Amino acid sequence: MSQSYRHDVLIIGSGAAGLAAALKLPGNLSIAVLSKGKLNSGSTYYAQGGVAAVLDETDSIEAHVRDTLSAGAGLCREDAVQFTVANSKDAINWLLELGVPFTRNTPEQELEQHYAYHLTREGGHSHRRIIHAADATGAAIFDTLLRHTRLRNNIRLLENQVAVDLISRQTSTGGERRCIGAYVLNTATGEVDTHAARFVILATGGAAKVYLYTSNPDGACGDGIAMAWRAGCRVANLEFNQFHPTCLYHPQAKSFLLTEALRGEGAVLRLPSGERFMERYDERMELAPRDIVARAIDHEMKRLGLDHVYLDISHKPASFIREHFPTVYRNCLKFGLDIAREPIPVVPAAHYTCGGIMVDQQGRTDLPGLYAIGEASYTGLHGANRMASNSLLECFVYAQSAAEHIDSCQTHIELPRLPPAWDASQVTDSDEDVVISHNWDELRRFMWNYVGIVRTDKRLQRALHRVRLLHKEIDEFYSNYRVSPDLLELRNLALVAELMIRCAMQRKESRGLHFTLDYPELLPEALETILQPAPPRE
Ligand code: FAD
Ligand code: SIN
Repeated sequence: MSQSYRHDVLIIGSGAAGLAAALKLPGNLSIAVLSKGKLNSGSTYYAQGGVAAVLDETDSIEAHVRDTLSAGAGLCREDAVQFTVANSKDAINWLLELGVPFTRNTPEQELEQHYAYHLTREGGHSHRRIIHAADATGAAIFDTLLRHTRLRNNIRLLENQVAVDLISRQTSTGGERRCIGAYVLNTATGEVDTHAARFVILATGGAAKVYLYTSNPDGACGDGIAMAWRAGCRVANLEFNQFHPTCLYHPQAKSFLLTEALRGEGAVLRLPSGERFMERYDERMELAPRDIVARAIDHEMKRLGLDHVYLDISHKPASFIREHFPTVYRNCLKFGLDIAREPIPVVPAAHYTCGGIMVDQQGRTDLPGLYAIGEASYTGLHGANRMASNSLLECFVYAQSAAEHIDSCQTHIELPRLPPAWDASQVTDSDEDVVISHNWDELRRFMWNYVGIVRTDKRLQRALHRVRLLHKEIDEFYSNYRVSPDLLELRNLALVAELMIRCAMQRKESRGLHFTLDYPELLPEALETILQPAPPRE
């Protein structure tokens, strides 16, 4: 039997954005936080490098804003950048108050850096401004946030709950259409439950799983972006998918990330001959923004027919490497690589979705009652390329502003009546689960081949043709099947892939992460790519 629940706030996603929002909301509200797998299954837990913020007195808001705008290649919304950076110190102070164990400076470093915590450097930053917990910052932040949410008795944390679709209704005759909850597959019971809520926050993370090779965990399927689109919300700039330049190349490593902080602390890129090559691409060398470094690696691999290039930090003392990068060190050792002695084989992999659901400074989407925060959202902060470590920052800043907005209007919004239960009268079990995984594989492969680091019109057309065929198959073959997590993810991935391709086809220039051989130049005017869905069906 399916169940019905009512909450003041339903938060879909338990990463940095979702947990921070739950903690920032007032304690009088009943809050449910859903995760489709385990609570730590989002990208947050895997974040390595850290959080960018203006923390020491020699840095400035102007410099961080300037660097972000420059990495974003003219496409950032300047108000979003100003807003995020201006709130960066408060966001970090909040994390410190909660007890996140950021790496401390030694007394000598503190004198030099004018700050108690160690600040590292990453691509695009003109200053050391990344606060971190060694090379496992995401886990340190996640564990701390989770510990605090568990202490709040107004917050319920619900694992293994896959949101299927949002529910929206006209609240009164002639009144506005509002989001009033979501249908959610409880994977323990196999039933689709109804969650009604006064406010819904999508904090579902990115969509890098649309690509064959990705640094992201398995759930990064763009579910929130797809659900918001189906509910009638605009999305923007989905052509800008960031490829992280350095993921471990090893058959068993599943694109394990090698943090950019390695390059920040002196690691260099080399060809198999030992030659460095970044000076041919950018004067900032290995610390150029990621789009430039990833394209340079891609170019060298294609030019020389290589499977990978090398990242080399072996010139640094072994004790330094083990102290600063214990996770990377241990993980590489598991694959037989001692990074203190030898260079590491690396390739780029899909890493971050810069576009997403369009929101304002309070995280509000086009649908009243629905907010989107974190990687699922498009705030305008990242423009055509996200600068390293700005994304966790964005999660905290927009979690705070969305929570403040909900608090400011909570008295006017009533708890909605329960909508009708999910219609499961016509479903049958799939006898062809294997086909779902074939479709997954096919989709991720053609996205990698045709919508990757270097694009052309022809490749994009091919990808569009294939993704539309896939949609047709999904509609024809699976429409009567009982929903399963795999089927839901396939449906969402196919939709987000199509939106990405459509955005990419609209951009007739090369800017930031979108590089096409057909339009290698930059157009004089920087325009966002905004897609508007058809109004949702009743
Ligand atoms: P996530 O942390 O991805 O969480 C998404 C949540 O949504 C999960 O709980 C998931 O279960 C849930 N969810 C998704 N779909 C559904 C559904 N249908 N139903 C129910 N729940 C759902 N950024 C930085 O700023 N600094 C770094 O050092 C850094 N390092 C990174 C390293 C790696 C390996 C990766 C992958 C990313 C890194 N990033 C880094 C990016 C950053 O980690 C992410 O952008 C950020 O953590 C996203 O947080 P989020 O809360 O938006 O989403
Ligand atoms: C990294 O540690 O290189 C990832 C940083 C980021 O994605 O912001």
